Amino acid sequence: MTARPHVVLSAAQSLDGYLDDASSTRLLLSNEDDFAEVDRLRAESDAILVGAGTVRADNPRLLVRSAELRRERLAAGRPEQPIKVTVTTSGKLDPASRFFTAGDTTKLVYAPPMVADELRDLATLVDAGTPPELGRILDDLGARGVRRLLVEGGGAVHTQFLAAGLADELRLAIAPITVGDPRAPRFLGTGAVPRPLRLSEVRQLGDVAVLHYRVAAEPSALDVLRLRQAIALADECPPSSTFRVGAVIAAPDGTVLATGHSGEGDPRNHAEEAALAKLSPDDPRLATATMYSSLEPCSARASHPRSCTQLILATAIPRVVMAWREPSLFVEAEGVEQLTAAGRQVIEVPALAADVRRANTHLPGVRP
Ligand SMILES: NC(=O)c1ccc[n+]([C@@H]2O[C@H](COP(=O)([O-])OP(=O)(O)OC[C@H]3O[C@@H](n4cnc5c(N)ncnc54)[C@H](OP(=O)(O)O)[C@@H]3O)[C@@H](O)[C@H]2O)c1
Ligand SMILES: [Zn+2]
Repeated sequence: MTARPHVVLSAAQSLDGYLDDASSTRLLLSNEDDFAEVDRLRAESDAILVGAGTVRADNPRLLVRSAELRRERLAAGRPEQPIKVTVTTSGKLDPASRFFTAGDTTKLVYAPPMVADELRDLATLVDAGTPPELGRILDDLGARGVRRLLVEGGGAVHTQFLAAGLADELRLAIAPITVGDPRAPRFLGTGAVPRPLRLSEVRQLGDVAVLHYRVAAEPSALDVLRLRQAIALADECPPSSTFRVGAVIAAPDGTVLATGHSGEGDPRNHAEEAALAKLSPDDPRLATATMYSSLEPCSARASHPRSCTQLILATAIPRVVMAWREPSLFVEAEGVEQLTAAGRQVIEVPALAADVRRANTHLPGVRP
């Protein structure tokens, strides 16, 4: 099975949480700088998805506006425009919508069989169940080579992606406007978000506040087992003044490929480094392996030219699971940021952080 795309949600809302007012004209909740950033998000994506409600209400073009960004896409060997995607149960989409008429790019409509047959000449109709299931839509997009999907609303679609735990990031622009009308569409409807959201960035673009969230990935039961094993390995560390850390590198089925602990081999060695030293950096098994570390991999160190984050990035290891984010005792820790920026998945299990702190109470300021 091919991988599902990385899903980025983008929305603009009023201060009181509405996506639009209740009138038939679209409420402007954005400014030029914000539009330009969303245009860049579009240009970085392989496909853009909106719900049928948004196609009907806003009649959006869903194209990259900037000529420069389109040139950059072409220069990188990508199609000039991302694929356009919509989803409907009713099939009620106007063939004259800009979704179908604007731009020479692939248009995908996920709809139950038969309901949208009059659109057959304008778009590729795909059956993903009745009603269409988001998981099947993501599987199909992945099989079509879509690695990054931008979801631009509306509220029903955003709510479903978040409630199903299928969104990876959320970019939310908040305008200093109140709508105050319960008939207007809300950014999120009913349904709780099962996965924790982490605020990763806050910026100001004129009067618009831009919040960026990452949706935390869930560890599996096997992840928790291997992470506990890594935490227990810290007991093997020689008495030392620095962090006592354990690391386990394991295959997707849980097979342990290597283990390590701080001070193993050389008193200055870190746990991840000691574990990695037991494997060749181009061992093919690393391409699907997970690095379990009781502590966030270091991003700068005085005693060694390469940080554990750099050592991990020198391999193909796609995931890192850790219990405790490094407190900034010695240097400012940026392991999680550097790994995520390089496209590696980082899963934090804060529920196990107390066990790691307990092994490190010899350090100043660390309490169990
Ligand atoms: N401010 C912003 O960032 C922003 C962005 C986008 C939209 N908007 C606003 O949001 C409003 C539209 O939001 P909305 O919540 O009404 O509509 P929406 O989320 O765009 O679309 C909802 C429709 O999509 C289809 N749909 C959604 N999930 C589906 C599924 N799993 N399977 C099959 N079909 C599915 C259904 O279409 P059928 O009814 O055809 O079955 C449903 O009625 C508009 O007022 C628009 O201006 C604002
Ligand atoms: Zn390290």
